[in-house]
Amino acid sequence: MIQVENLHFAYRRKEPVLQEITFGVSQGEIFGILGPSGAGKSTLMKILIGLLPRYGGTAMVMGQHCDSLKASFFSRVGVDFEVPSLFERFTARENLEFFRSLYSRPCFQVDDMLHQLGLTQHADQKVSSFSKGMKTRLNFARAVVNNPDLIFLDEPTEGLDPTSAAAMKNIILGLKGQGKTIVMTTHNMQDATDLCDRVAFLSAGRIAALDTPRRLVMKTGAAHLTYTYVDNGVEQTRTTPLNRTAEDNVLSFLLKANRITSIHTDEPDLSKVFTQVTGGRLEP
Ligand SMILES: Nc1ncnc2c1ncn2[C@@H]1O[C@H](COP(=O)(O)OP(=O)(O)OP(=O)(O)O)[C@@H](O)[C@H]1O
Ligand SMILES: [Mg+2]
Repeated sequence: MIQVENLHFAYRRKEPVLQEITFGVSQGEIFGILGPSGAGKSTLMKILIGLLPRYGGTAMVMGQHCDSLKASFFSRVGVDFEVPSLFERFTARENLEFFRSLYSRPCFQVDDMLHQLGLTQHADQKVSSFSKGMKTRLNFARAVVNNPDLIFLDEPTEGLDPTSAAAMKNIILGLKGQGKTIVMTTHNMQDATDLCDRVAFLSAGRIAALDTPRRLVMKTGAAHLTYTYVDNGVEQTRTTPLNRTAEDNVLSFLLKANRITSIHTDEPDLSKVFTQVTGGRLEP
């Protein structure tokens, strides 16, 4: 669905924002673009939907070059960017009916979408009276109402309460189940782990790592076990790799003597990869 090779990009008379970007996305895959604020995630998505045609290198989506996308491309694509693009004076239903009317292909049913996103009760309410989370959900519905083959989501769960975020994630997985290809950015490492088949970490405009969440996590090193015990009235803490616990004689002794006061495993997760890739910096 997507082939990017040695992609470079700079905004007018500025330093490069993206450099040597190479990756591909297959049909039916959920591909995550992760990275700190300002890393170039939204810029990369904008190139892929044809908004920034002055790039270097190759960027192709569904067989078309991203600097000259045709109308046939846009009818098959759904885009949900950070900024809601809804008509405030229309109701939720009117908004979806309007965007649906722009397409000649078979679209999703408006009532189904409103129901899936928990907006049925607010269907006939003007969008101007919607809360932020309600607008986020309706904007998502707007983005996918045309039953697109390829979907771009910029921070799909940002600003949603946990129930709405879980519902949104289920809908995204449902779309994947229908064979849709999804490219998404997120700052939420749990969402990335739950949703994405593969993720690319962007750092200062370059891909610093690209793999399945599981393999990236494994590369950060083994899980650890941390335990505490009291020795001469002073609490002590020790850590041992989870795959070497049998060799930890102190641990064996304390376990047999019932002297462990707390014990927990420290599972590596994508947040650790994020910190390693970015060196813990917030600025690229
Ligand atoms: N229209 C623009 N003109 C000039 N520079 C821009 C423009 N848009 C973004 N930039 C710059 O490009 C860099 C990458 O921005 P981008 O919006 O792609 O980051 P991001 O990874 O999406 O960040 P965030 O997580 O905050 O959304 C930043 O340094 C930003 O200042
Ligand atoms: Mg962004």
